[in-house]
Amino acid sequence: MPLTPTTRVLLTGAGAQLAGAIRTRLDGHCALTAVTRRECDVTSAADMARVTRDVRPEVVINCASYNDVDRAESEPEAALAANGLALGVLADAATREDAVLLHYSTDFVFDPAVDPGPLREDAPISPRSIYAQSKLLGEILAKRAPKHYVLRVASLFGGSRAKSSLDRLAAAIRRGETVKAFANRTVTPSYVPDLADAAATLLARDVPYGLYHCVNSGHGTWVDVARALAVESGVDPDRAVTPVPFDPAAFPARRPTYAALSNAALAAHGVTMPLWRDAIARYVRTLPA
Ligand SMILES: NC(=O)c1ccc[n+]([C@@H]2O[C@H](COP(=O)([O-])OP(=O)(O)OC[C@H]3O[C@@H](n4cnc5c(N)ncnc54)[C@H](OP(=O)(O)O)[C@@H]3O)[C@@H](O)[C@H]2O)c1
Repeated sequence: MPLTPTTRVLLTGAGAQLAGAIRTRLDGHCALTAVTRRECDVTSAADMARVTRDVRPEVVINCASYNDVDRAESEPEAALAANGLALGVLADAATREDAVLLHYSTDFVFDPAVDPGPLREDAPISPRSIYAQSKLLGEILAKRAPKHYVLRVASLFGGSRAKSSLDRLAAAIRRGETVKAFANRTVTPSYVPDLADAAATLLARDVPYGLYHCVNSGHGTWVDVARALAVESGVDPDRAVTPVPFDPAAFPARRPTYAALSNAALAAHGVTMPLWRDAIARYVRTLPA
């Protein structure tokens, strides 16, 4: 579904950090209607029916999510509603409109016992937290829409509200603080402007519908990430970063120790993602001195 200035795109969860980047990227390229939770609660069939009746979307992009991974353990109903059951509502709405549904999931659906190398879309899943289970339910229900893209993303950074773990690490390093970073937790950081570009390219190239991993290329530990932030900020990484071991039992919600995703399937369809170190360099250049 290549976008033209008249293509009607509905963006739900418009307050999300990723949604901000998508709005910036799509501005002027389509007829975009962005709705926050206050304007459209995605768990509400009535809200979705009203908004889709008004907008008649050809594409629905959903960034709404319950993202407090630890709090989800004590609020399973809220997490399952926003991350899981809402996708039934969104898929039904998209199907009624014959629209494309583009939805985001997470690397947390995995938790391999050993490092198996970057995980492809068909790697065995092991969703071990309420958050991960709620996102998996969302994947399953999103796939009910005949025209669906489910994109697993990971460790977002670079949103306008600078709220992610990586954003906080960057800010602390640039204040001259020494940060602690996990030496043995492997991730694929995802720069939200690159994710927004990927969404636009995916739609433009009519990539076959389905589930894809959509992250920056390459992977690293949190120590690698923090050191890259220091280097790009002109700070001595040995002084700025203290490696600490990651203990999954230290958090209310279980997190995967190894969660590197392979984006090869998306690349095979012409959606190539920049290296995460390059993304970090571009991100740091956007930060105030
Ligand atoms: N952040 C990460 O590192 C990460 C990692 C893996 C996957 N993802 C996925 O990437 C996507 C975007 O994440 P993000 O970090 O950009 O999100 P975010 O900044 O945490 O924002 C989530 C947004 O969803 C809204 N929302 C929550 N429940 C809603 C509902 N019932 N109806 C409508 N809106 C609702 C929230 O509104 P309120 O502020 O009003 O609650 C908030 O604006 C999500 O699917 C997320 O699971 C993110």
